[in-house]
Order: sequence, then structure tokens, then C-alpha cells
Amino acid sequence: MRNLLIVAALAVPLLAFAQDQGEKTPCRIIYVPTEQVVVEKMLEMAKVKKTDLVFDLGCGDGRIVVTAAKKYGCKGVGIDIDPARIKDSLASMRKAEVSKDLVDIRQGDALKVKDLEKATVIMLYMLPEFMEKLEPQMKARLKPGTRIVAHDYPFPNMEPDQVVEFEVKDSPRPKFLYMWTIREPKKK
Ligand SMILES: C[S@@+](CC[C@H](N)C(=O)[O-])C[C@H]1O[C@@H](n2cnc3c(N)ncnc32)[C@H](O)[C@@H]1O
Repeated sequence: MRNLLIVAALAVPLLAFAQDQGEKTPCRIIYVPTEQVVVEKMLEMAKVKKTDLVFDLGCGDGRIVVTAAKKYGCKGVGIDIDPARIKDSLASMRKAEVSKDLVDIRQGDALKVKDLEKATVIMLYMLPEFMEKLEPQMKARLKPGTRIVAHDYPFPNMEPDQVVEFEVKDSPRPKFLYMWTIREPKKK
């Protein structure tokens, strides 16, 4: 119950954009960047290494995949529906001197990623309604061993393997990070 109340309270700021935009646009989740200290923590939780392929579904300015490439030398894919965020992501890559060989930024709907099976790590900072829609793809499409880390909003029906709550300097509330590892299907 406590977790449900926290998720409901956290959803309010991200939802404001959806209400302003009405039904005309599919871009329903406001851009709120993950603080850099939280980005680092998410990558640590997933134990990212050079051989990983990190997807950020709703990548904003690309900071998660750019940090992963810069710090661990791994490849990344960032997907965002908003063209302004694609420009931001390409600017982040230029600033960090991360090449397009390492990070692929794509405009599109993160619920319709054609090659999601290739991911070994998935990062998320999206609203509960998106998490609910994405959840069936996690079990159906991802390889065993794939790690998923979500900032503040968990999947509604998947029990996380790890939950981390921590304080961020100058943030009015604690942060919650959830992690899942996709398991081998049970043998019948
Ligand atoms: C809360 S921000 C998170 C940004 C980034 N992942 C981070 O943690 O810093 C959510 C992002 O998802 C994007 N977005 C919303 N709906 C989307 C969808 N259906 N497909 C792809 N991107 C979407 C928004 O444009 C926004 O940039």
C-alpha cells in the first residue's frame, strides 16, 4: 500500500504535460531528466559492462546511454518520441565525444521497438501507464539475464529483485530504483 501511494504521488508532475496536450499527441509523458547521480546508480545496479547493449526507452537528452558509453565503453540505443529530445541527445553525444558507432539515437514510440530482443540492459523513467503497457514485452521478448532498471515507477505485476531508496542532494523527496533480471523460463 505504501509503495502504491508513493507511485501515485510521484506521477503527478510527469502527468501535467499529458493533460495539457489532450489526445492530439502520442507524446504524453513530460521530459524530466534523471539526475546524474541517479544515472550513475542505475548503471551500477545493472552492473553494466563493455559487452552490454543498453536501451533507454524514452531517452530524453540521452544522458543514460551517453554516460554508459563514456564510462563503460558499451553500446547504447536511445529512443524518444519527441524530436526536440533527439536533438538534445545528439548534442549530448557531441559534448561527451561519444560516436554514433557506440550510441544509436532513434525517434519513435518506445512501445514499438523492433529489435528490443537485442538489449542486455533496459533503463526506464516512465509513467505507470507506460510501464503497464510495456510489461508484457519484457517477459515475452527479452533474453534471460537481461537487467531492467526503472526510476521511480515499477512494473505493476513484476516483483522487483531489488529496490533501492536513497536521498539525492537538493531533491525534495527520496528516489526509488527498481531492478529486475529476466530469468530462464521454468521447465515444464
Ligand atoms: C521522464 S523523461 C525520462 C528521460 C530519460 N530517460 C532520463 O531518465 O533522463 C521521459 C521521456 O520519454 C519520452 N516519451 C514519452 N512517451 C514516449 C513514447 N511512447 N516513446 C518514446 N519516448 C517517449 C518523453 O519525450 C521524455 O523525453
